[in-house]
Amino acid sequence: MSESPRRAPLPTGPLTGPRTQLRRALAYAMAGINRLLDALPPLHRLHRRVRAGLEFTALELPVPQAGLDGLRLAFVSDVHAGSFLDAADLDELFGRIAAAAPDLVLFGGDLINSREAELALFAGPLRRLTPPLGMFAVPGNHDHFWGPDVSAWTQFLEDHGVTVLCNRGVRVEHGGASLWLCGVDDLTEGRPDLPAALAGRRAGEPAILLSHHPDFFFEAAAVDVDLTLAGHTHGGQIRIAGRAPIHHSRFGYERGWFAENGCRLYVGRGVGVTVLPWRWDAAPEVPLVTLRAAAVAPAVQRPAAGSRADSGGAPVTMPR
Ligand SMILES: [Fe+2]
Repeated sequence: MSESPRRAPLPTGPLTGPRTQLRRALAYAMAGINRLLDALPPLHRLHRRVRAGLEFTALELPVPQAGLDGLRLAFVSDVHAGSFLDAADLDELFGRIAAAAPDLVLFGGDLINSREAELALFAGPLRRLTPPLGMFAVPGNHDHFWGPDVSAWTQFLEDHGVTVLCNRGVRVEHGGASLWLCGVDDLTEGRPDLPAALAGRRAGEPAILLSHHPDFFFEAAAVDVDLTLAGHTHGGQIRIAGRAPIHHSRFGYERGWFAENGCRLYVGRGVGVTVLPWRWDAAPEVPLVTLRAAAVAPAVQRPAAGSRADSGGAPVTMPR
């Protein structure tokens, strides 16, 4: 796989990369405030009320391979365990995901909030999830909170049945056909390597990429990754008059579907929260993607700015 000629612009991470000590101090201060607030039981109850509005958004993705028809993926991003969300909450959440009976469960990063100790919250609840084709994960910026080394994070997940796709991919077989499922490290705090993630993909094989940061879509679309699944933005988390005051995507990839170069991006709103146990006009979401065989692969046109099909209650297929 040749290297993409188009590179995603690197965001400035508060913890690693080019930064000031002030940015790092602010990030740790915010995490400290988050932990203090997390100690208040009423705020856990508030977050539970917000999570009661969790939406399982039914999405469809056309693929040319008949054998992949009906394959279902649950995309779970931005859990932020330890931020108003404990093991009992995870158990309830994963029970709901298990009831949706996906073939694969894909974790899109930010499983924890700021401490590796928060991983322990997943040990019991992960036993709820037994999808037949497995569970996979990529790290997000919060999983990198103590630096680029996510080996303890990776080891914990691998020990609990989750395959980590940090700059690597695997072949998923279904109905006599196959797809390349891969993932990259976080764009803000990690070191994403798309050629490594795609190494092993067969010619003509559909590829689905997990990338915590949606801005990596810019790079993935340049090498024909059929679908990129991203989170990070929390759908804005708190939106006022239809706009999020805090922007997490340089390209406005805030939520829902986007298309470029015939490739697709879906930005999920995620499950959890940071700093405040509240969402406004950005309900928590677990997208459920069903692959649908199409006789002819559709040519997706580059959309006008802001052109997207936002998720609603009914199944949503990427506009052709
Ligand atoms: Fe997040």
